[in-house]
Amino acid sequence: MAATRWLAAAATALLYGALCLWVLRHERRKAAAERARARSFEGAAAAPARRLLIVHASQTGAAEQLAWQTAQALHGAALPLRVAALGSVTPADFAAASAVLFIASTCGEGDAPDSAAPFVRRFMGQAAAGSLRGVQHGVLALGDREFAHFCAFGRRLDAWLRQAGARPLFDRIDADAMAPEALARWRQALGRLASVGDKLAWSEPARATWRLAARRLVNPGSSGAPVFHLELEPPAGATPGWEPGDLLQVHLPHAPDQPREYSIASIPAEGRAHLLVRQQRRSDGRPGLASGWLTQQVAVGGEVVAELRPHRNFRLGDNAGRPLILVGNGTGIAGLRAHLSARASRGLRHWLVFGERQAAHDFHFRADIAAWQADGTLTRLDLAFSRDPGAKAYVQDRLRAASAAVREWLDDGAAIYVCGSRRGMASGVEDALVEILGRAGLDALIDQGRYRRDVY
Ligand SMILES: Cc1cc2nc3c(=O)[nH]c(=O)nc-3n(C[C@H](O)[C@H](O)[C@H](O)COP(=O)(O)OP(=O)(O)OC[C@H]3O[C@@H](n4cnc5c(N)ncnc54)[C@H](O)[C@@H]3O)c2cc1C
Ligand SMILES: Cc1cc2nc3c(=O)[nH]c(=O)nc-3n(C[C@H](O)[C@H](O)[C@H](O)COP(=O)(O)O)c2cc1C
Repeated sequence: MAATRWLAAAATALLYGALCLWVLRHERRKAAAERARARSFEGAAAAPARRLLIVHASQTGAAEQLAWQTAQALHGAALPLRVAALGSVTPADFAAASAVLFIASTCGEGDAPDSAAPFVRRFMGQAAAGSLRGVQHGVLALGDREFAHFCAFGRRLDAWLRQAGARPLFDRIDADAMAPEALARWRQALGRLASVGDKLAWSEPARATWRLAARRLVNPGSSGAPVFHLELEPPAGATPGWEPGDLLQVHLPHAPDQPREYSIASIPAEGRAHLLVRQQRRSDGRPGLASGWLTQQVAVGGEVVAELRPHRNFRLGDNAGRPLILVGNGTGIAGLRAHLSARASRGLRHWLVFGERQAAHDFHFRADIAAWQADGTLTRLDLAFSRDPGAKAYVQDRLRAASAAVREWLDDGAAIYVCGSRRGMASGVEDALVEILGRAGLDALIDQGRYRRDVY
């Protein structure tokens, strides 16, 4: 009897050991695959010690995408190189590189992207005269002249580098709304750097033709602008992979305009990319170009040219196992829905704080939210309908009123994801968090990657 029990225990231990080994191998394989993409640009193991460093500071992914395109082009020209986010390097890395190329976007009101904030705080606040002498650099600043502080962060970074003694390889290039002319100058500068002149091979991210499979107005009777729920079918035969947090970039037909980003509200398992699009009005009364086209002009069944834009700042990444505080207003619920869909029924805690105008008209994804409350995916729900009778309140007011709970969730390791309008909501939420946690408390969250934003 005892021998049987011993044998059973030994067999269990063996099985357990085999399982652990399998999990370990599987994790190692996964990590190796992730490293492979980065390594593929780094040249052979025996590459010279001084590689070119390509650094991106990106909020919604454009600068990061350009960094990888730049890497691909220079790798094609046989330059050994490395790509890194500004938030993950130090000035010592610049000194160790043969040259440093920065692709830096500006967000907020002339601010650095969230992921670059730790670098800015640690290094750019202090005078650094002479500390980067010997470093050669180039800067591509991304911005938009519709904002008051055009390319402010790229300019600031360039000024800081020069002040620290770094030598510019070429004049800073400022790109207004990804202007093709500015990007052409960047490619020319790269061609000179790689000594290949205009022979530099440059590839654009793949566009695909999606099909508008369904569209419906979701806020009839609302006092706000119309919001439409769109479902886009992936290109025939393709199983496009996106992660919760990613964006769909829509290109307008016959228009040279910059594509427009929309937060994807669904997960690939749902088969289609779901978007919530608010119909914008220009000051002259005409509908916004992209939102008007998507909500009025393109027919159901019609084609939409688009590309998936990885949005690493708003993906879960290292926050996958954490409880989440999800804060959003209006169409911002889209980016939050994707995270909730992906994590539903997994025993993880979620607190949703959602705001709009009137519960009767503007409660987007109401059925999903009710279902997630019922099955325990949503541990807590706070709603702020600012035009309903009673106290006028916004999501930031709900956070302030629940400040003790915010602190408790964060003490338990939660991450905060904010999605929706930049003006009013995102800045109001940031102010509320500073009140609740103190500036240093919020900065610590940013440093740990636990404060993520998809705001526009
Ligand atoms: C990361 C990110 C995620 C986003 N997610 C979403 C989302 O999920 N849902 C969503 O609805 N939107 C989202 N957006 C916004 C979206 O990308 C578009 O900016 C929005 O749809 C407006 O584009 P449009 O072409 O319709 O408007 P445009 O034609 O570009 O006009 C936009 C505004 O600019 C002004 N304007 C510009 N040109 C003129 C002119 N000549 N005359 C008068 N006024 C002018 C007007 O105020 C107008 O309302 C997101 C944006 C970003 C950056
Ligand atoms: C919320 C928001 C705020 C922005 N603020 C500025 C700004 O203050 N100055 C500027 O030049 N561009 C501004 N831009 C434009 C971006 O810099 C530009 O779209 C850039 O291509 C984004 O690059 P990224 O995707 O790498 O973040 C802003 C864009 C957004 C969506």
